[in-house]
Amino acid sequence: MSKRFKMEQLVSLCKRRGFIFQSSEIYGGINGFWDYGPLGVAMKRAIESLWWGEMVETRDNVEGLDSTIICNPKIWKASGHLDKFGDLMTDCKDCKARHRVDQMEDPLKCPNCGSANLTTPREFNLMMKTYVGPVFDEEHVAYLRAETCQPIFADFNLIRISSRQKLPFGIAQIGKAFRNEINPRNFTFRSREFSQMEMEFFCAAEESLDWYEYWKNERIKYYREKLKFSENVLRIHEHETLAHYAKAALDIEFEFPFGWGELEGVHHRGTWDMSRHQEFSGENLEYFDQDKSIKYIPTVVETSVGLDRTMLAVLCNSYDEDTADTKKEGQEEDKRIVLRLPEIVAPVQIAILPLSKKLSDKAEGIFKDIRKFYRSEYDVAGSIGKRYRRQDEIGTPYCVTVDFDSLENNTVTVRLRDSMTQERISADQLKNYFTEKFTK
Ligand code: GAP
Repeated sequence: MSKRFKMEQLVSLCKRRGFIFQSSEIYGGINGFWDYGPLGVAMKRAIESLWWGEMVETRDNVEGLDSTIICNPKIWKASGHLDKFGDLMTDCKDCKARHRVDQMEDPLKCPNCGSANLTTPREFNLMMKTYVGPVFDEEHVAYLRAETCQPIFADFNLIRISSRQKLPFGIAQIGKAFRNEINPRNFTFRSREFSQMEMEFFCAAEESLDWYEYWKNERIKYYREKLKFSENVLRIHEHETLAHYAKAALDIEFEFPFGWGELEGVHHRGTWDMSRHQEFSGENLEYFDQDKSIKYIPTVVETSVGLDRTMLAVLCNSYDEDTADTKKEGQEEDKRIVLRLPEIVAPVQIAILPLSKKLSDKAEGIFKDIRKFYRSEYDVAGSIGKRYRRQDEIGTPYCVTVDFDSLENNTVTVRLRDSMTQERISADQLKNYFTEKFTK
């Protein structure tokens, strides 16, 4: 993967086609913050709903939550984030670059200019701070959540009782998280504002390792089957050193163009979070098992993945260059950039392309029917070759071309992005044709 293309090529495509670009670009941007344009937001929402469907909607034993970004700051005291959630950082006194010590090859040498003139490493807390109310003093300090799971633990009793769930069951949430990363880098891979998709599964301690194995396998299956990641771009990294309360932890890693990087964490969190929230809130968070007549603090198994990081991995996995079908005889071979996105997350799933403006009535009719079922786009501007090229670049799996024969015999051409083959089918059959394609 890393040899196939450079990250800059993808970054440039994302900007050119309106997937992802620097936040506040007209002001020079802001490091570690990214905006999603029209295609980016469509794709991001598709990934979100794929994950939600997979983890919540198709399961009877997982409930959803949408909690606030700012919570009572005691949550972050209980979770340990206020006392220990940071990295060691050092500044180069010569070139002024700032570095995370754990990411330096030689902690005594600036990776930017080679100088040994570095400040003594110091702890840096990643929590983003704000104030709630009109008075800006220590009493009114609050924090933007650093992970979406902590409000899940705090809301456990409310959710369990209102949903009438018995253990084992899970609670899932998708939402923004904020970390004041020292070195945001590699496009959206390490950002300061990002979204997480987390699921906390509450169970009895003696079943927890079985659930850990179960969720690990479920998540790998999801990447292979739903996001179409091949075996060689995914690997498991088991943690060698574990938190004192954890029985197991692993990262599912993806091979990005800049190397292997964590995509998702599957963590056995023991009873740590629930015990701490019970201690700090004073609320009883034990579960009473009626069948066994015993009370216990639930053990938690977590699956935690970044939405932005998933999208980046899917984009990297899909980026390709090959020879286009727009080549005319006697011309040089024509390279095309193509995003081979899985149909389910492609921002445009079907493009309707009339060959001429004179065919608008017919083509618009088809477009209106199709867009009820699929993310669709209507494009009449420019040569058909250029329009195919644009659709390839944004990852559209199917283009429907309407031509003058369509008026005569009500047939259209469907062009497939990956094989570039074309099929002539009846316009009346389009719905069935796509139903079959999308359910394969
Ligand atoms: N609740 C556990 C937790 O937050 P984590 O390993 O710190 O664990 C989980 O984060 C996932 O969130 C990561 O695997 C990654 O996908 C995503 N993530 C973490 N920090 C990120 C950042 N700065 N930018 C983008 N995504 C990030």
